[in-house]
Amino acid sequence: MSNTSSTSANTELRKTGTLDIADSRTGTKTSVQILEGGVEGDTVVRAMDLRPIKTAPEQFGLMTYDPAFMNTASCKSAITFIDGDKGILRYRGYPIEQLAESASFLEVAWLLRHGELPTQTEYDRWVHDITFHTYVHENIKGFLGGFRYDAHPMSMLCSVVAALSSFYPEAKHIFDEEQRNISIVRLLAKVPTLAAFCYRHVKGLPFIYPDNGLGYVENFLSMVARMSEHKYEANPVFVKALEVLFILHADHEQNCSTSAVRAVGSSQVDPFSAIAAGIAALYGPLHGGANEQVLRMIQEIGHPKNVPAFIDEVKGGKGSRLMGFGHRVYKSYDPRAKIVKKLAYEVFAQVGMDKDLEIALKLEEAALNDDYFVSRKLYPNVDFYTGLIYRSMAFPTDFFTVLFAVARTAGWLAQWEEMLNDKEQKIARPRQIYVGPGERPYQSRLKHRTATT
Ligand code: CMC
Repeated sequence: MSNTSSTSANTELRKTGTLDIADSRTGTKTSVQILEGGVEGDTVVRAMDLRPIKTAPEQFGLMTYDPAFMNTASCKSAITFIDGDKGILRYRGYPIEQLAESASFLEVAWLLRHGELPTQTEYDRWVHDITFHTYVHENIKGFLGGFRYDAHPMSMLCSVVAALSSFYPEAKHIFDEEQRNISIVRLLAKVPTLAAFCYRHVKGLPFIYPDNGLGYVENFLSMVARMSEHKYEANPVFVKALEVLFILHADHEQNCSTSAVRAVGSSQVDPFSAIAAGIAALYGPLHGGANEQVLRMIQEIGHPKNVPAFIDEVKGGKGSRLMGFGHRVYKSYDPRAKIVKKLAYEVFAQVGMDKDLEIALKLEEAALNDDYFVSRKLYPNVDFYTGLIYRSMAFPTDFFTVLFAVARTAGWLAQWEEMLNDKEQKIARPRQIYVGPGERPYQSRLKHRTATT
């Protein structure tokens, strides 16, 4: 199935002016096109338009240098819009607040992929297909059995999703729409099963097979928590909370893991391998791993009275960063964090107040009133309160990022497919500025080296 949205990554950028560049080395002037696009009228120049600027014909030409992509658009995308200064997040134009309030996760997954909300017929088919692909090959159980009891569930999930590619060799036909569709359905269906299996393995509990009579979130909770009961009945407050958290985490435009999926996917590898790359990137403590680190940080602080000393440590650069704070794009309150904070109170009303909420609130208050954080525009991000909710639902700390990965699979897949359909995309291959030694002759520094050793 292709993207049905009226806007797509193939939308042309408009010429809006020219930028004249005077090269002081040669005295020459070059005019490059300024292009405009997007709902906010983003303006760009094409980096390749700078290449002709050189001092001699044999020279490579001018490149841009942008470590960590601080100011480089790597693609056009019609999926997710963020205004970091105003704290706005929309999927395909729909405000995140409205989707979190009223949509289901699978409806959002469809929206991300197709650009429009599903009709009833489309939705029923989508839910049916995903529900009936939740089972995984029995050999996966043997594969998971190879992990130690204390394996981190994110490294297990990453490996087992990559391993799925070996079960579906036909998934490599990524330009065959039918193959692409079934791979997307399989990933959305099986990642929750694999995530739950990782959980059960660590706990030493038997794997629970999917229950196709349950909804997406209920089934996931059943595979995680069911013991001897005939039919698992999830707490409706937990189901609602997880559904909202999945929606909030479903996509976030060109973040580290999505960029990893796009970069790896640009080699035209199968989607299981590309999504495994996204899971690896998400694992890191500066990205999805932050939710786990927030809870560890709060536990380390131990008591609200220790908050001021901790804040001083962060500011002095002695300790860690204030995890769950700051964002590359948001320079005001992360709109997802607002929703998560409200959700936390709803969950705590059901299960009792989290013992460490006071520490979190105190940290937030201290940071929001401290010039160090205010001047750097560091506000709570989505990870700040999610850990407390997950803990109150009895998820172990090292499982938090797995929950993020289950949800983000929807966004990774939408972005991966958009990249494949984008006529301007090629294999991702950045340039570098080589700063190592110039040419030098080989002279071994080993003691007794001969030609054959
Ligand atoms: N605590 C203390 N200081 C911070 C923090 C923080 N959490 N974040 C940034 N700063 C400071 C940083 O030291 C720097 O100060 P200075 O200008 O004096 O050197 C300034 O703010 C700018 O920081 P940066 O590292 O250049 O900013 P960045 O855009 O590269 O980093 C970030 C973004 C999210 C990696 C960073 O804010 C961070 O490490 N936050 C903590 C980890 C975290 O919560 N990550 C989750 C991000 S949201 C969900 C997700 O992506 O998965």
